Parts: sequence; C-alpha cells; structure tokens
Amino acid sequence: MLSEHLLQGTNVKLTACTPHDIPVMLRWYQDDNLLRLLDALPARPRSENGLAEWISNHQKATDSFLFGLRLCADDTLIGCIELDGILWTHQTGWLAIVIGNAEHRDKGYGREAMQLALRFAFYELNLYRVQLTVFGYNHRAIALYEKIGFTREGVYRECLHRDGQRHDMILYGILRPEWEARCAQAK
Ligand SMILES: CC(C)(COP(=O)(O)OP(=O)(O)OC[C@H]1O[C@@H](n2cnc3c(N)ncnc32)[C@H](O)[C@@H]1OP(=O)(O)O)[C@@H](O)C(=O)NCCC(=O)NCCS
Repeated sequence: MLSEHLLQGTNVKLTACTPHDIPVMLRWYQDDNLLRLLDALPARPRSENGLAEWISNHQKATDSFLFGLRLCADDTLIGCIELDGILWTHQTGWLAIVIGNAEHRDKGYGREAMQLALRFAFYELNLYRVQLTVFGYNHRAIALYEKIGFTREGVYRECLHRDGQRHDMILYGILRPEWEARCAQAK
C-alpha cells in the first residue's frame, strides 16, 4: 500500500518552489551567519536574479529536485530542501537543507523535513544512498543528522579558514536499509 502523503508530514510539507517565493528567500540569503553555514564560498548575499536562476535551473535539471518547505498549518515558506548531483546509475544523491529564519529553527521542523526528503529519495526516486557535507562548527545540523541515522564517514580536515581559524568539513551518508531500520525502530 502507498503511504497516504509522500511529501506531507504532521507539521511541514515539501512543495514546489516558485518565483513567487523569491522575496521571502531573498531576506534569508542576506544573513551572513546563515550563508556561512551553507557554503564554503565567500558569504556573498544572494541577488533576486541569482535566486530566480537557481530555481529555474532546478526546474530544467534531470539530476536534481528543489522543494519549498512549508508549514502545513498556513503554508508559510520556512525553508528549502535540495536533492542534487544525483548519479542515477549508482542511485546516489546529495541532500541539503535550510530553514531560513531563526524563529523556525529548533522546533523539530528540520527533522521532519529531512525524513520527508529521505522518504522521497528512497521510495520515490529509488536512491540507495544519500550523502551531505556539514561544517564542523554547525553543531545543530550535526546533531540533527546523527539523530536521523546518518553515519559520519569522513572528515575533510581543516578544510575551511574562517575568522582566523581552520575548520573541518564532515561527510555524512545514509543507506536505504539503514534508514528503513531506523524507521522500523521508531514505530
Ligand atoms: C540545521 C537545521 C536544518 C536543523 O533544523 P531544525 O528544525 O532547526 O532542527 P530540529 O529542531 O529538527 O532538531 C535540531 C536538534 O539539534 C539540537 N541542537 C540545536 N542546537 C544545537 C547545538 N548548538 N548543539 C547540539 N545540538 C543542538 C536540538 O536540540 C535538536 O535536537 P532534539 O530533536 O533532540 O531536540 C536548521 O537549524 C537550519 O536550517 N539551520 C541553518 C542552515 C543550516 O545549518 N543548514 C544545514 C547546512 S549543512
């Protein structure tokens, strides 16, 4: 039997991301603290055109999916989830998540959204492996990935240089049977 809603959880859902979302997203991507959690490139605020191009590129791509993360209660856009760099031959892809405003973090939305994205990756795209990287100073994201069941697979030691210090970048991965075992345990 199919699950009732593939892309909808109790509090959050994965939805289309459209150009109408750009004004909200533009505000998130001016925040330098947020930019430094997401990218190793210099923390440059994103422009309206850059975001429009990003959304449009995802719509055309055959190896990626971009979702707007919304609250079920009132459709507020709170973040985005990207599955990209998918190697169909190998059933492997990269996952990235952002919850744009601090007021929406630490409420369990990230955890729920990650579970929805993994269910989509494993049960709709039929991927076998999902991987991601996270910066060593991003303790909240690391806690989340480990709680979900990602394995810390490797460390790009002292890969980043920010604020006069070197920081690790960590590789995490989860395989479909590992995720299924976690889901079975949680029932
Ligand atoms: C990382 C992110 C997706 C997590 O989503 P979230 O909704 O805030 O997280 P959740 O509430 O689902 O869970 C976070 C967990 O980390 C814990 N946590 C929060 N801050 C922490 C910290 N500084 N150190 C350790 N654990 C921390 C929380 O207590 C929570 O654990 P719990 O479920 O046992 O209560 C979100 O905070 C975010 O988008 N941050 C900014 C962008 C980002 O870092 N993206 C990831 C890039 S790799």
